[in-house]
Amino acid sequence: MNKNNFSTVAVVGLGYVGLPLAVEFAKKGISVVGIDISTKRVESINSGISYVEDVSSSALKKLVSKKRLQAFSDFTPVKRADAVIICVPTPLTENKIPEISYIVSAIKSASPYIKNGKLIVLESTTYPGTTEEVVLPLLVEKGLTPGKDFYLAFSPERIDPGNKKYHLGSIPKVVGGIDKRSTQMASTLYKIIVPYVFEVSSPRAAEMTKLLENTFRLVNIALVDELAMLTEKMNIDIWEVIEAAKTKPYGFMPFYPGPGVGGHCIPIDPFYLLWKAKEYDVDISFIELAGKVINSMPDYAVNKISFALNSIGKPIRDSKLLILGVAYKKDISDTRKSPAQKIFAKLMEWKADISYYDPYVPDFAVNGQIFHSIPELTEDDIKNSDCVVILTAHSNIDYEMVSRSASVIVDFRNTIKGKAKNLFKLGG
Ligand SMILES: NC(=O)c1ccc[n+]([C@@H]2O[C@H](COP(=O)([O-])OP(=O)(O)OC[C@H]3O[C@@H](n4cnc5c(N)ncnc54)[C@H](O)[C@@H]3O)[C@@H](O)[C@H]2O)c1
Repeated sequence: MNKNNFSTVAVVGLGYVGLPLAVEFAKKGISVVGIDISTKRVESINSGISYVEDVSSSALKKLVSKKRLQAFSDFTPVKRADAVIICVPTPLTENKIPEISYIVSAIKSASPYIKNGKLIVLESTTYPGTTEEVVLPLLVEKGLTPGKDFYLAFSPERIDPGNKKYHLGSIPKVVGGIDKRSTQMASTLYKIIVPYVFEVSSPRAAEMTKLLENTFRLVNIALVDELAMLTEKMNIDIWEVIEAAKTKPYGFMPFYPGPGVGGHCIPIDPFYLLWKAKEYDVDISFIELAGKVINSMPDYAVNKISFALNSIGKPIRDSKLLILGVAYKKDISDTRKSPAQKIFAKLMEWKADISYYDPYVPDFAVNGQIFHSIPELTEDDIKNSDCVVILTAHSNIDYEMVSRSASVIVDFRNTIKGKAKNLFKLGG
């Protein structure tokens, strides 16, 4: 088995994970067929227009014009792929139950085209056991035999959208197959695009690896959120404390407080584990507790805005609030589960006069109301607001101008340095 065994790779689900992956393989000379049920996304890719920050339209256009990457909305091209990588969504239902129907549907649609020992890799984050308890039986039900018609592995995706330092091609991959051959094949496949692949003994171990990574983040963010609420009362600046703690060369890793967490990982993945743990009658109280703290942060943020407005004798009602950043983290456009959703909803309930600026997010829908970003952040916009609230600190905003012109600032990201009478910082 060597990398020449993979001349064509199919990537199913072309979102934040699938599109960069498809592009990475295509850049390495692999012929990539991308499959997505969204015809809009398929058309966009085939026109060379990227909808994901980590993929530039110019790079995409080049690969599409050379036919290195082609997108389809039906599964027939799976026929010619040597490997099929599944990157479909895995959300939670309203009751925090794993919603794996996208995985089931993708596997069912691909199965008629699986034969001759194709490698199937699941990348969607999910609970330990999904590959062996759900995907494998589905394929077997379709009359396919492991080790003959297909090989099967799980490999978690670890990308961090917007991260300039670590990108898909530089982050090691973890792979775990249902048998030795599946693991070896998955390892060989990923060595085409990443410098290092770590093999684990089973898909379950690989699935659990991703959940350990994200649970670790959830718990540590919740811890620092709680400490921020405490230090605020103690007149200690949590940001200064974190900077100081960071100087310890071992045993400490910095996490930062904020008005809540968002995206498709931290608010979701640990709850996949929590759900699965119930099958074993085990309470993962750390996840529950961390979830509780993190879920309380948007309300805490609104109280803080109210407190700041109080300093100039104003209530939230009818106050002009200018919110900076609604994406769930800096320098990206993803607003899925962004804390801004809950914060806007509460401020709307309290009848605030809200406007926002986010250079990455032109429109933002909350409870059926569509907000539009002001086109450009001007000194007048800032001066005409009662309070400027920094929810997400995108790098391309002039915070010096904000600091100079705002009458009141509420900063949840330690963007404005130092202390000032009109500056209200989370944890400061
Ligand atoms: N976004 C991240 O930063 C990130 C990081 C690591 C892991 N993950 C995980 O990767 C998986 C994908 O996440 P994402 O952020 O790329 O999601 P996404 O919503 O951006 O993209 C998923 C794509 O899959 C398509 N799709 C849905 N059902 C399909 C089907 N049956 N067949 C073909 N296409 C289908 C959708 O149309 C969409 O384009 C999730 O499990 C997520 O938890 C995400």
